[in-house]
Amino acid sequence: MDELFSPVELGAFKLRNRIVMSPMTRSRAGKGDVPTELQAEYYRQRASAGLVVTEGIQPSPAGKGYCRTPGLYSAPQTEGWRRVAAAVHAEDGVVVAQLMHCGRVASRLNKEDDSEIVAPSAIRANAKIFTDKNGLVDIDKPRALEVVEIGDVVREYRQAALNAREAGLDGVELHCSSGYLPMQFLSSNSNRRTDRYGGSTENRIRFTMEVLEALGDAIGYDRVGLRLCPGFDYNDIDDDNPRETYGLLLEKSSKLGLAYLHLVRRSFPKVDNFELVKAHWRGKLILNNELTGETAAQVIAAGDADAVSFGRLFIGNPDLVSRLRRGVELAGYDTKTVYTPGPEGYTDYSTAD
Ligand SMILES: Cc1cc2nc3c(=O)[nH]c(=O)nc-3n(C[C@H](O)[C@H](O)[C@H](O)COP(=O)(O)O)c2cc1C
Repeated sequence: MDELFSPVELGAFKLRNRIVMSPMTRSRAGKGDVPTELQAEYYRQRASAGLVVTEGIQPSPAGKGYCRTPGLYSAPQTEGWRRVAAAVHAEDGVVVAQLMHCGRVASRLNKEDDSEIVAPSAIRANAKIFTDKNGLVDIDKPRALEVVEIGDVVREYRQAALNAREAGLDGVELHCSSGYLPMQFLSSNSNRRTDRYGGSTENRIRFTMEVLEALGDAIGYDRVGLRLCPGFDYNDIDDDNPRETYGLLLEKSSKLGLAYLHLVRRSFPKVDNFELVKAHWRGKLILNNELTGETAAQVIAAGDADAVSFGRLFIGNPDLVSRLRRGVELAGYDTKTVYTPGPEGYTDYSTAD
């Protein structure tokens, strides 16, 4: 177990232990998609993690898919994140902003403004999404981005990374999983483009590479992480050959000097994504998915990863690190209040003491 609590460096991030808080959308943003004092308190409570990855944050109004998710493109949003950064730093924690552009995984009903829903191609995801207005609804059909607009989206990511640093956050993580925009470019069932962003493997990975380069150029590659789950079919996403697509992406992104790869480890019929990462990724690795204290310690002891991340266990256990270290029993959490507004089921979970 001891190694789990030993320090580690991931790029510019100095983690005091190898336990990472996995990004979790909690839908508590305020008006204007501004992070609130409540969110700052939530992250402060969990700041003993070696690294906190925030919930997914839209880099632009068009990037918003779900209800009450925060942004990082307006001045008030940046000020909101400043409170979060200060709260985590006051506890000697490290915190990065997860940049999540939902692309086609969106409902118009979740947008406060008239921003559009955009994607590589005008193909609707055959899935449902929750809205405050009408409950569960069909995802809307997106509009295909023009080539010149793709450059604009890359610049929005870049600006969001600059805003993250301006707010005092330590860096960013690019969300490239769960069927959102980068994955929509990577995958053959959502990308039918015939220009340089579609078709060949090289073309389908271009958008993700351009975003990573924009982020790295803006704030330093050693402050940028990448989150992947090759093979995942969430939100109706499917790639004909994830081994080839992600093999090339991993090879190319390995050369950038990113802070880390954050892998949601899973084995699918088309790909065992941990095997793929072992073959193609050269850099620091955070492993996620359904870990317990015991299996996490095994991952670190075996040298399978530099750090591990926990999602759901952090919901009901703000002091997860201390509980694991002391072998204290872990608390569960209320599934009904995961995405509801307010402190209930959010900041009212107590520590073991
Ligand atoms: C409520 C909830 C919200 C989530 N939101 C995000 C998100 O915004 N970004 C992301 O990359 N993953 C998100 N995930 C996935 C988690 O980061 C994590 O990969 C998953 O929960 C598996 O880890 P666990 O078994 O430790 O919970 C979410 C998971 C949960 C339970």
